[in-house]
Amino acid sequence: MPTIKIVEVGPRDGLQNEAVQLNTATKLELIQRLAASGLRHIEAGAFVSPRWVPQMADSLAVLQGLDLNAGIHYPVLVPNEQGLERALAVGVREIAVFAAASETFSQKNINSSIADSLRRFEPVLQRAQAEHIQVRGYVSCVLGCPYEGKIAPAQVAAVAASLTAMGCYEISLGDTIGVGTPRAVKALLEVVSQHVPMAQLAGHFHDTYGMALANIHTALQAGIMTFDSSVAGLGGCPYARGASGNVATEDVVYLLENEGYATGVNLADLVQTAWFIADALGRTPASRLSRVLGR
Ligand code: HMG
Ligand code: MG
Repeated sequence: MPTIKIVEVGPRDGLQNEAVQLNTATKLELIQRLAASGLRHIEAGAFVSPRWVPQMADSLAVLQGLDLNAGIHYPVLVPNEQGLERALAVGVREIAVFAAASETFSQKNINSSIADSLRRFEPVLQRAQAEHIQVRGYVSCVLGCPYEGKIAPAQVAAVAASLTAMGCYEISLGDTIGVGTPRAVKALLEVVSQHVPMAQLAGHFHDTYGMALANIHTALQAGIMTFDSSVAGLGGCPYARGASGNVATEDVVYLLENEGYATGVNLADLVQTAWFIADALGRTPASRLSRVLGR
């Protein structure tokens, strides 16, 4: 049975956009429950400016509370050298740098042009390599931008290729505002895979328009074997108006397992985790599966 890598981004992408500021203990319990359900890649925080994203201000404490040598990958977002220093200080083994395929989104999200952001990542990648830290690369707005509308696949391919050339081992293609549909996903992957091998690409679909599972199915058929998702469908990006949560991990696991792929995730445990975090935030999980199965 082919195995799909799931990168759980709830504790970062999910919680960065919540109005409720969860305490560190609750974040740690969330991450520990996600790991216990079988997830092996859990994005645990972001070493970004706390002024830009206050919800991630306690990432240092979160990472300090985890066993980083237990065989589970806990990547963190890093926007610059300052972020890398903070990550190194706490013993992080994997980071993710994040660029965009839209100039305006890049300015709004990281206060930099695309070209400047890529220049800023170069020393981050060099230092990370010297320290044997794995680096993942994100490209945002691959299927549309909240400020610029449609984005050309060639623009996405150019940014993805630059990040790969710098040393990113994987490129996660972010449909930041969930506007993609299967035909656009197929067209995007056809172009990007001419520059970065399909095996090094991941799908990161927000579910704003309810298209994420359809897009994942299309990406699977195109050969993508890695998907990002967020327990309970938490999430969004504070610098992309209208961005809702990522596709819910439990829905992705249900789809994949029934389509004949292994995920290593215990769905019943994951659903309980979805309810745990939804309760902590005072709402119900966005995932229909979690609502059907209940607590
Ligand atoms: P800036 O204001 O241009 O930075 O922000 P600066 O270098 O001029 O520094 C300004 C202040 O920030 C200084 O502090 C720095 O020390 C501090 P002050 O002297 O004013 O007190 N600072 C930092 N503090 C902690 N950690 C750092 C750091 N860097 C500077 N690493 C910057 C530029 C990139 C820092 C800022 O724009 C930022 O942090 N942006 C992050 C935005 C963000 O996290 N967005 C969400 C994640 S991306 C996303 O969700 C999309 C994704 O899911 C994929 C998808 O869906 O598409 C990945
Ligand atoms: Mg995202």
